[in-house]
Amino acid sequence: MKRIGLLGCGAIGTQIALSIDSGKIPAILTHVYDSSKEASASLVEKLQNKPVIVENSHLLSSYPIDIVIEAASQDAVKDVALSILQNKKDLMIMSVGALLDETIYDVLSDACKDFKKTIYLPSGAIAGLDGIKSIKDEIESLSITTTKHPRSLKGAKFFENSEINMDGLTSKTKIFQGTAKEAVSLFPANINVAALLSLCGVGSEKTIVNIVADPATDKNTHHIEASGKFGHMTFTIENFPDPNNPKTSRLAILSAIETLRKYCSDEIQIGT
Ligand SMILES: NC(=O)c1ccc[n+]([C@@H]2O[C@H](COP(=O)([O-])OP(=O)(O)OC[C@H]3O[C@@H](n4cnc5c(N)ncnc54)[C@H](O)[C@@H]3O)[C@@H](O)[C@H]2O)c1
Repeated sequence: MKRIGLLGCGAIGTQIALSIDSGKIPAILTHVYDSSKEASASLVEKLQNKPVIVENSHLLSSYPIDIVIEAASQDAVKDVALSILQNKKDLMIMSVGALLDETIYDVLSDACKDFKKTIYLPSGAIAGLDGIKSIKDEIESLSITTTKHPRSLKGAKFFENSEINMDGLTSKTKIFQGTAKEAVSLFPANINVAALLSLCGVGSEKTIVNIVADPATDKNTHHIEASGKFGHMTFTIENFPDPNNPKTSRLAILSAIETLRKYCSDEIQIGT
């Protein structure tokens, strides 16, 4: 059975750990780390098969594990991703926005080749990435429109230089249009899906991101459109937020669980 190390014991990390503990993912969770000691202790408390809590994130990959699951933050990716690969462990990254920094992307991509290890990026809160990957050389335009309740967007750096009053919005309003690259710095907490789309499509400078605030919605909705020689594709995903962390969609958690289950299973692999 594969041996797993977990970095980040919040909404996503907890559900992954519970899926391993229940046998849904055929693996052993051996080590965990969270910068919040309360978060790691509270997770271990919930598990029948107790992993060891390590003292710092770099220690995770020093043990005989197969893969580290990052479900923490972009800073965690910047801090430890390279050393995990250097320690010859695979890595699954949830904080995908970190990879839109080209220096980080190039360093990690080279490290995968040098150390013969793989980084897995689950499809997260969107669908349709299998199609986008297949047609990437024929895409002429690619866009994603993300619609959320204003409270899910509040606090983003974008509002430091904007006169939009999010508390005063009474109807659906487009508040941003730009490239995925621009969106990373202005909406870092909402960029994972746009980052994934641009990484498997036409890059962060050609992927257009629209952000819409809708005071009447209770969902996180992503609408993706791609056009080119292949034809035209559209996908709309209406996600319910996870009750433990409303910023994270339930689908993002299920997608992480399925990616890890596939990694840990010997079976017929379905899909591109
Ligand atoms: N790829 C996707 O589609 C997708 C979807 C939702 C969330 N995410 C990302 O996944 C990550 C986890 O999401 P979540 O909903 O579980 O968040 P969460 O806030 O519920 O949990 C994150 C946990 O990581 C810990 N943490 C943060 N920085 C850390 C660090 N540097 N070292 C160690 N621990 C650290 C926090 O203490 C917290 O317990 C976030 O970066 C989020 O943006 C990705």
